[in-house]
Amino acid sequence: MFSIFRRSAPKVFPAFEFIGVDMHNHLLPGIDDGSPNAETSQMLMQRMLELGYSSFSCSPHVISDIHPNTPATIAAAAAELQQHLQQESLAIPFHYAAEYMVNYDFDELVNNKQILSFGKNYVLIEMSYAVESPNIREAVFALIMKGYQPVLAHPERYPYYFNHSLREYEKLVDGGCEMQINMLSLGGYYGPPQKEYAQKLIDRGWVNWLGTDLHHERHLEALTKLANDKKALRYMDKIKQLRNPTLSLPAL
Ligand SMILES: [Fe+2]
Repeated sequence: MFSIFRRSAPKVFPAFEFIGVDMHNHLLPGIDDGSPNAETSQMLMQRMLELGYSSFSCSPHVISDIHPNTPATIAAAAAELQQHLQQESLAIPFHYAAEYMVNYDFDELVNNKQILSFGKNYVLIEMSYAVESPNIREAVFALIMKGYQPVLAHPERYPYYFNHSLREYEKLVDGGCEMQINMLSLGGYYGPPQKEYAQKLIDRGWVNWLGTDLHHERHLEALTKLANDKKALRYMDKIKQLRNPTLSLPAL
């Protein structure tokens, strides 16, 4: 039975056109905790296009023991998705890199140049939400020495960095690391402290990247809601040098 109290679905419109490329998402099928198959990837991508995105740089997890992806497994998932889209006569522009967990064997990947980068040699890195990677600063330095530009994923989601001086963030920025916040943080999706720190990092001028970190349909629903959140959009607008729109992705 219909109820007059039923909440209406948020309006879908291209609010995120100004971002262009989403460079942090788990849209490649079947290789991490993101999209399970090509059909789901297609659906998620099509709905993100409706929100204004122009293309996707997919960033599956590379976490030894949990998601032990390699350039070969990632390329294979991209090829599977591309084949599916072609069968459906769809041309959705996407490419791929990865989201690297900075852990004990990260140095080895960097030294062996087994790293997938996007755009001008950008490399997306992350840490656990529970503990800081003890080698994070060394990893940033090693990447820069090899000619990469490290981008730290969702710095606002690392509670061990929450303090009012923002000193830990500052050290990373001073060390040459760029920062990408998850857009959903600005809508409070992960909780009030994550929202607060996403705003603080933007206020400090330390954020250059916006990512969805989209894994599944719940994230998509939250993203659609965010497109209607004027305050969150105003915060995104404060980012002076947003790099997403400058990215150009090669064809697959
Ligand atoms: Fe992610």
